[in-house]
Amino acid sequence: MSTAAANRQYFDAITGTYDSKPFFAKVNQEVTDDLRNRLDWIGIPFANTESSSDTQSVRQLDYACGTGLMSRIFGPYVTETRGIDVSPNMVAAYNARARAVGMSESTINGVVGDLFDNENPTPTGAEWDGFDLATAGFAFHHFEDVVHAAKCLKQRLRPGGVLMITDFLEDGDLKADEQGEPIEGSEGTWASHNHDGHHGHGHGHGHGHDHEHDHEHGHGKKEHCHHHCEPAKVEDEPGWDREKMVASIVVPSFTVEGVRKFFTEAGLVDVDVVTMDKRVYMEFGGQKLWRTVLFARGRRPLEAKSEL
Ligand SMILES: C[S@@+](CC[C@H](N)C(=O)[O-])C[C@H]1O[C@@H](n2cnc3c(N)ncnc32)[C@H](O)[C@@H]1O
Repeated sequence: MSTAAANRQYFDAITGTYDSKPFFAKVNQEVTDDLRNRLDWIGIPFANTESSSDTQSVRQLDYACGTGLMSRIFGPYVTETRGIDVSPNMVAAYNARARAVGMSESTINGVVGDLFDNENPTPTGAEWDGFDLATAGFAFHHFEDVVHAAKCLKQRLRPGGVLMITDFLEDGDLKADEQGEPIEGSEGTWASHNHDGHHGHGHGHGHGHDHEHDHEHGHGKKEHCHHHCEPAKVEDEPGWDREKMVASIVVPSFTVEGVRKFFTEAGLVDVDVVTMDKRVYMEFGGQKLWRTVLFARGRRPLEAKSEL
């Protein structure tokens, strides 16, 4: 099964509970506050800011939109949002949420698609092109080829438009105890560490990692901790399938240098990668963790030529 198909299967199955836990609301709020304070850093002329004009149109593509976190974050500052996700159930939830708050299809709408499918990238057409901003929230760790992904997203931007992604920083995790409190001194890469011998990553990747050879088990040098100091486990929810989750993930996290490299290789310019100051508490891959979130931005050059 392709990684995209594994993602469709996993996210279709968990759509109903994807962001329903209280910790998720907190993470989403923290990411929202941080990104809204960084509109200048993102570097496109947004709508409804002190410097914008009334007639300005600002179009956002929310790729791998899920239930719409990135669309909600930038919604107040754009005039049109288009979502794409490989999971039909996620797209249905995305559109249902937008309609529930009275937003019309012309303002925000999502469709099922996969821009990275070489034989049949979908969707196509003018509605899906020329975006001012493309976002991919917590999605790049699910993509098989991150350079190709960044290139495909760059192609959907207008010249001068910006790709902004959020993801997790390698070695930026702290384990949490049963109460969810951070365990000081436990820095490492603890997410999607699988003890059953199934690893959702380490194949065909080559980008984003400074020391890939360390990642056979997701955390390299901390192998001695294998049996003694795992993060506290989250109780499995009925229907939650660990194997399907692991199959959907290509890598658990990225280095700052690695993201800079694959953005640059994709032909983006004005590239910058930053991290949130404080870790966020998450229950990820069945474990309780404090994770470091990174944000990366890169611009499609004004004189862009097609590279696909
Ligand atoms: C962790 S969720 C993030 C959802 C949302 N962006 C957010 O920030 O909450 C990852 C999403 O990526 C989608 N996805 C994975 N691979 C994809 C692909 N190749 N094309 C489009 N969507 C994909 C999944 O279906 C899922 O909805």
